[in-house]
Amino acid sequence: MSWGAGPAPGLADEVQPLRPRVPVSERIWARKLVPPFGSTKTASPEIVEQGRVLYEGKGACVSCHGKNGLGDGPIGRRLNPGPRNFTNCRFQKRRHDGELFWIIKNGSPGTGMVPMIPVTITEEEAWKILAYERRFCKDWQK
Ligand code: HEC
Repeated sequence: MSWGAGPAPGLADEVQPLRPRVPVSERIWARKLVPPFGSTKTASPEIVEQGRVLYEGKGACVSCHGKNGLGDGPIGRRLNPGPRNFTNCRFQKRRHDGELFWIIKNGSPGTGMVPMIPVTITEEEAWKILAYERRFCKDWQK
């Protein structure tokens, strides 16, 4: 099923991006997790830029989620379910920062989204990436 912006042509579709991914038993506390810099909405341009460098480099998020966040990276386009399309503001606004952090840390079981902390990135780096990733939704700060 496709929602919001939908996948780029020729990609495996994401699966129900609005459905929560954090298991129900974890969700209440996951939603309470907040970035060390307060919130992804108020993150400074410096934090966002550090997040971009990590997203495109060390974190390797770009290989699946794509340079423009569409879920069309070279590895991502071969996955089913497909990676999240971060330009979808309906998805972004449905999720708390802490829920997305939980998935970056623990992965989304049964998908190509594997745990990224601590092997690939640190918790602090994950929060910075999240500040960048949120901005693929053009009205994230509104
Ligand atoms: C090997 C491919 C791959 C890599 C690398 C990858 N992801 Fe993902 N990601 C996915 C897939 C596939 C999904 C969709 C999972 C699902 O449908 O449950 C996803 C989903 C997500 C979600 C959405 C979670 C939700 O609540 O819906 C976030 C946030 C995310 N990834 C962040 C990242 C970040 C940050 C990085 C880099 C540190 C990263 N991903 C690296 C494949 C990847």
